[in-house]
Amino acid sequence: MPVITCIEDLRQLAQRRVPRMFYDYADSGSWTESTYRANESDFQALKLRQRVAVNMEHRSTATTMVGQQVAMPVALAPTGLTGMQHADGEILAAQAAEAFGVPFTLSTMSICSIEDVAAHTSSPFWFQLYVMKDRGFIASLIDRAKAARCSALVLTLDLQILGQRHKDLKNGLSAPPKPTLANLINLATKPRWCLGMLGTPRRQFGNIVGHVKGVDDMGSLSDWTAKQFDPALSWDDVAWIKERWGGKLILKGIQDVEDARLAVQSGADALIVSNHGGRQLDGAESSIRALPAIVEAVGSEIEVHMDGGIRSGQDVLKAWALGARGCYIGRAFLYGLGAMGRPGVAKVLEIIHKELDLSMAFCGRTRITDVDKSILLK
Ligand SMILES: Cc1cc2nc3c(=O)[nH]c(=O)nc-3n(C[C@H](O)[C@H](O)[C@H](O)COP(=O)(O)O)c2cc1C
Repeated sequence: MPVITCIEDLRQLAQRRVPRMFYDYADSGSWTESTYRANESDFQALKLRQRVAVNMEHRSTATTMVGQQVAMPVALAPTGLTGMQHADGEILAAQAAEAFGVPFTLSTMSICSIEDVAAHTSSPFWFQLYVMKDRGFIASLIDRAKAARCSALVLTLDLQILGQRHKDLKNGLSAPPKPTLANLINLATKPRWCLGMLGTPRRQFGNIVGHVKGVDDMGSLSDWTAKQFDPALSWDDVAWIKERWGGKLILKGIQDVEDARLAVQSGADALIVSNHGGRQLDGAESSIRALPAIVEAVGSEIEVHMDGGIRSGQDVLKAWALGARGCYIGRAFLYGLGAMGRPGVAKVLEIIHKELDLSMAFCGRTRITDVDKSILLK
């Protein structure tokens, strides 16, 4: 077993252990992947101010996100098909997040269902909602999330239609993989993954199969999904979803100041500056570049979170310094999960926490809540 010291180590291990179509599904962006790359590289352009001879004892990264205590301002992002990176992936990631004291967000397009994750965790998790044309189904998903005691609803607004990722088309992405010759040859090189999958009943979209009339196998499900995402989604829908949910509401996928103002008007508790990890509009600005203008415009009226490109605790520190009161990690946790299951996700959280804590200290601060943009060089 190699010594794991950073997220990149876990990415490499995941690449070896996860079937190609699912590894590629995570490690890709839309079209030319320029936004996907910029999300990461624009963090590198921000430089930290080193301070010395400051008492660095008694440090704390603890804070709150939408009023909930968190060990650090980091949540696990909602990611579809997480149970295909590793058997029972959503349950294992939720358990690792719970043990660490950060929120786990379950995607609508998860393999493990809302009820299944609730049955295997003891503190509330968050649920991410995609809006589909069948409003009856959306209402039932909201009710199921309430019944499972989810403590926040993350409503994704940037996927009314699906961006194109070349690799998913070329690989013929499906869950479970179809038994084509190319897939069988690839799966033969992933014995750990195959054993895990043989040992679990969770191999389909758990929130959907069995809950939507006429959808009981994967063939009809993929057609159904492609047809169901609602291109007509509007702010009126946000209003009825908010009312039906009645709890903490977080709007995901805001990149523009005008949309941020509309998010404030909607009465949501938080917004996430996000371009879906560079998976939707290729050519959009990176999230870390979009963040400051949105914080400037609405930061005093709504809690601003961000995601996209976070691969280290230093990235979390920089985002916090620019006004993000929470960050979400997508690929970083998927790599840990694909590499090593639950201990891999725990490792990701430990690595990010340690990098955040040490970098904060090197910048001469002991509490994350005291960090502001003065830790960054102009
Ligand atoms: C494999 C994968 C699947 C995703 N599925 C969803 C999803 O089901 N719902 C959603 O709102 N966002 C989804 N996202 C976007 C993430 O929530 C998040 O915005 C993005 O991953 C952040 O960028 P990062 O991966 O660089 O951390 C997905 C991202 C990835 C990488």
